[in-house]
Amino acid sequence: MFCILLSTVVSLGIVTAENGQNAWLRYAPLRSVNSYNLSLASNIIALNTSKSSPVYTASLELQKGIQSIFSQAVKESDEIHQAASSLIVGTVDDYSHVYGNGNDVPDLEEDGFWLNTEGETVKILGQNERGALYGAFEYLSMLAQGDFSHISSVNNPNQPIRWVNQWDNMDGSIERGYGGSSIFFNNGGIVDDLTRVSEYARLLASIRVNGIIVNNVNANVSLLSPQNIQGLGRIADVFRPYGIQVGISLNFASPTAIGGLTTFDPLDSGVISFWTNITDQLYQRIPDFAGYLVKADSEGQPGPLTYNRTLADGANLFAKALNPYNGVVMFRAFVYNQLNESDWKADRANAAVQFFKPLDGKFANNVVVQIKYGPIDFQVREPTSPLFSNLYNTNTAIELEVTQEYLGQQCHLVYLAPLWKTVLDFDLRVGQKASKVSDIISGERFNRPLGGSAAVVNVGTNATWLGSHMAMSNLYAYGRLAWDPSKDSQNILQDWIRLTFGLASEVLNTITKMSMESWPAYEQYSGNLGIQTLTDITGNHYGPNPQSQDNNGWGQWTRADKKTIGMDRTVWNGTGYSGTYPPEIASMYEDISTTPDNLLLWFHHVNYTHILHSGDTVIQYFYNAHYSGAETAQAFVKLWESLKGKIDAERYEQVLYRQTYQAGHSIVWRDAISNFYWNLSGIPDEAKRVGNHPWRVEAESMVLDGYTIVPVKPFEAASNYTAIITSSNTTAGTVATKLEFADGTYDLAVNYFDVVGGRAKWQVYLNNKEVGEWIGDHEDTLGHALSANLDGGTASRVTFKGVKIQKGDMLKIVGSPDGAEAAPLDYVALLPPGVID
Ligand SMILES: *[C@@H]1O[C@H](CO)[C@@H](O)[C@H](O)[C@H]1NC(C)=O
Ligand SMILES: *[C@@H]1O[C@H](CO)[C@@H](O)[C@H](O)[C@H]1NC(C)=O
Ligand SMILES: *[C@@H]1O[C@H](CO)[C@@H](O)[C@H](O)[C@H]1NC(C)=O
Ligand SMILES: *[C@@H]1O[C@H](CO)[C@@H](O)[C@H](O)[C@H]1NC(C)=O
Ligand SMILES: *[C@@H]1O[C@H](CO)[C@@H](O)[C@H](O)[C@H]1NC(C)=O
Ligand SMILES: *[C@@H]1O[C@H](CO)[C@@H](O)[C@H](O)[C@H]1NC(C)=O
Ligand SMILES: *[C@@H]1O[C@H](CO)[C@@H](O)[C@H](O)[C@H]1NC(C)=O
Ligand SMILES: *[C@@H]1O[C@H](CO)[C@@H](O)[C@H](O)[C@H]1NC(C)=O
Ligand SMILES: *[C@@H]1O[C@H](CO)[C@@H](O)[C@H](O)[C@H]1NC(C)=O
Ligand SMILES: *[C@@H]1O[C@H](CO)[C@@H](O)[C@H](O)[C@H]1NC(C)=O
Ligand SMILES: *[C@@H]1O[C@H](CO)[C@@H](O)[C@H](O)[C@H]1NC(C)=O
Ligand SMILES: *[C@@H]1O[C@H](CO)[C@@H](O)[C@H](O)[C@H]1NC(C)=O
Repeated sequence: MFCILLSTVVSLGIVTAENGQNAWLRYAPLRSVNSYNLSLASNIIALNTSKSSPVYTASLELQKGIQSIFSQAVKESDEIHQAASSLIVGTVDDYSHVYGNGNDVPDLEEDGFWLNTEGETVKILGQNERGALYGAFEYLSMLAQGDFSHISSVNNPNQPIRWVNQWDNMDGSIERGYGGSSIFFNNGGIVDDLTRVSEYARLLASIRVNGIIVNNVNANVSLLSPQNIQGLGRIADVFRPYGIQVGISLNFASPTAIGGLTTFDPLDSGVISFWTNITDQLYQRIPDFAGYLVKADSEGQPGPLTYNRTLADGANLFAKALNPYNGVVMFRAFVYNQLNESDWKADRANAAVQFFKPLDGKFANNVVVQIKYGPIDFQVREPTSPLFSNLYNTNTAIELEVTQEYLGQQCHLVYLAPLWKTVLDFDLRVGQKASKVSDIISGERFNRPLGGSAAVVNVGTNATWLGSHMAMSNLYAYGRLAWDPSKDSQNILQDWIRLTFGLASEVLNTITKMSMESWPAYEQYSGNLGIQTLTDITGNHYGPNPQSQDNNGWGQWTRADKKTIGMDRTVWNGTGYSGTYPPEIASMYEDISTTPDNLLLWFHHVNYTHILHSGDTVIQYFYNAHYSGAETAQAFVKLWESLKGKIDAERYEQVLYRQTYQAGHSIVWRDAISNFYWNLSGIPDEAKRVGNHPWRVEAESMVLDGYTIVPVKPFEAASNYTAIITSSNTTAGTVATKLEFADGTYDLAVNYFDVVGGRAKWQVYLNNKEVGEWIGDHEDTLGHALSANLDGGTASRVTFKGVKIQKGDMLKIVGSPDGAEAAPLDYVALLPPGVID
């Protein structure tokens, strides 16, 4: 029926209201289609027209999509026996029932679908109703990408559980939320208007997510009030037509907090009745309720250990209540204690295996242990969690984070699928047999009935969902990988790009290049060689702060001192962590010569002068990587600028704003980490870049009027370790300096601190003529976690391009404080063309 070549189709690209709300489901019109011999189906036959049926949703979506892409109306038809030139969508069972030829349909697994576009009739048949909806989205995705090929394609999920976890609080805030407030909750209850929830359900269904936990793992007991259970029912009613089941996070101590009991001991009969009652109430309102997510005995959350019960006792308490309804307990493995760094053998990375391995086989069949991809906490690179290779009689799921908690908080472009793939594709060699993580969580490797994936997602009220258009590739890729972890991360990305930004090859190639380089670049300018992200782990997890890793009980140590760095996790001399992997993997990590460079400092404690496989010393690699990563981030701006006019202006400008910010903040990262380790080790950069900035003028060395010099904490977050702030909260200050650079055209960069608590204003003058000005308003525009301090998270850069300078010109900056933002300045850099500084 459809017979045109992909390369001949061009999308018009621009559709109305490109504010990101439709994400990859824009259905942008395709140009030229009418000039080809393309005959579209004229009818849709939906085999279920109940409004809560995903099959009905599929029919609506097909009508909407085809109308939008081809400007052609396709009508829903109830002439089910005039199927020629129709689109049939429904379950295999209903299809067999109506047409009697279900034998033509290949066998499908639960949630699977068959998409057949070979004949006159397009058939979209699901094993169940949700499968039919997935098939409709798949067909529309093909059309929207200009793919009109004739296919007969069987699609089955790799894993049964494909969930997202919201960390939304009842007051409407979101833990680690960077894209506005909750679309689910406000003021302690469920929001009245669930329109955004419905739009979110549509996005999730299109990537084949089948479950959602709507509230924070640090759960508030008030969610269980009768009124809130009714509210959850409304949420579930919105998700149901999209084939998505709703579940909630629980607070283990609810029996004492709201149940009037004096204990929350999981073996206590009153406690058991309490949870049975709650569960019954939930199922009365939500018959297809998904189940519970439990964070117990973790980071201050209550749990069974209080009563000397095991974590399995805790999980099974809920499993039993859910079992009559086929509900599932997702039980997080993120359990660890505070440790003492003076103990060389103490290791938080060992905690999950220590707690859970002895419990293997003790969890009920409807419990799934949800394991973060690495043994610590969503760092820029971690080895695969060894817990995946220590549970053979327990269902497991992987926990990923679409939320860029430690990875730039959606203000840095970091396409995460390649990072996730390092874990999903990792072969743990259990019993010397192929044991890829993706085959373990699917249930296949250990023959488990359940398993899958969960991703923490911080969508909020921002029109872009995540606060950033580019970050949406991560949500898209999450769903695609949960369905099929063998998919290539670049192919997934390119589907997302075509659907989100159109089919033009320059757009495709440019965004592909930026995205595929983004995680390596972020790793390069944050923490390298497996040392973790080196962000502010005791604060807001955003800016650089390497010293926050050590000298505390959190166990994210680097053990960096004047001569050495890295965690000794060997069996022979260290924490023994490497021995928690199966023998083939354990011996690879035990031996420094077979440990890959990118995890060297995760497993070994070495001198800064240790020579890597690459030939560099550790310290020189740090310097080189930081410079190269920050350089890549500068290039992203130029790449993006090359798309001007090829993308709608609204999204072009919004992405440009964030890429420009990232380019500046990557320099902050580069300098902070390089300076920190230079300061600590005293070993200079062979290339003489670190600490040597010939194009800079430090603010503290200028003539100050109404400005005061202040130290910055951590010191390395400021150039020359100091900054200046206005001496008063109400009066403007001025700094001035005579420029001693040769005549020429420069980019004038100013590094400043944008703190929460005010919107200060800065004006830059050259010989008293204004060059430009800016406002400290990142709290309104960026969405990352805020700080009131001069630190690595608030350090920022603004650049005025192409400024003509003559030797001896007077540069002046007037800073007008506002509230707590005392117009802080760090330095000015005058950058000749091509110089990054
Ligand atoms: C268009 O398709 C029709 C029906 O398949 C066919 O008869 C006709 O020759 C085609 N025309 C062109 C220009 O390919
Ligand atoms: C139609 O959809 C509704 C809602 O999902 C479902 O309960 C019902 O069983 C479906 N009917 C048929 C015949 O498939
Ligand atoms: C739980 O939610 C209620 C209602 O919004 C709020 O008053 C209370 O402070 C919350 N509790 C916690 C621990 O956040
Ligand atoms: C839960 O317990 C309350 C109070 O004992 C009772 O009124 C209610 O009927 C119970 N609900 C269910 C579903 O068992
Ligand atoms: C748990 O066990 C410890 C040590 O065996 C004991 O001191 C403590 O009293 C017990 N706690 C409870 C609640 O039983
Ligand atoms: C950690 O252990 C050392 C050495 O045993 C001890 O001196 C120190 O007090 C301990 N620190 C804490 C916080 O327990
Ligand atoms: C072995 O461990 C000790 C601490 O117990 C440490 O000081 C030493 O550097 C380690 N040796 C090597 C070769 O890593
Ligand atoms: C570090 O280098 C010193 C010699 O300078 C050597 O004695 C020591 O073993 C090295 N430490 C490690 C952990 O390799
Ligand atoms: C390291 O930084 C401190 C300031 O915190 C400074 O006093 C010291 O001189 C620096 N050392 C080197 C080698 O730069
Ligand atoms: C660095 O800061 C110190 C103290 O504030 C100041 O004396 C010095 O001039 C500054 N260095 C540069 C290169 O500006
Ligand atoms: C919401 O999204 C837009 C588009 O990226 C952005 O300009 C705006 O700053 C965002 N707001 C927040 C708080 O992230
Ligand atoms: C004045 O500025 C300082 C920081 O320089 C801040 O700590 C203080 O809260 C501000 N005062 C007011 C009233 O905003």
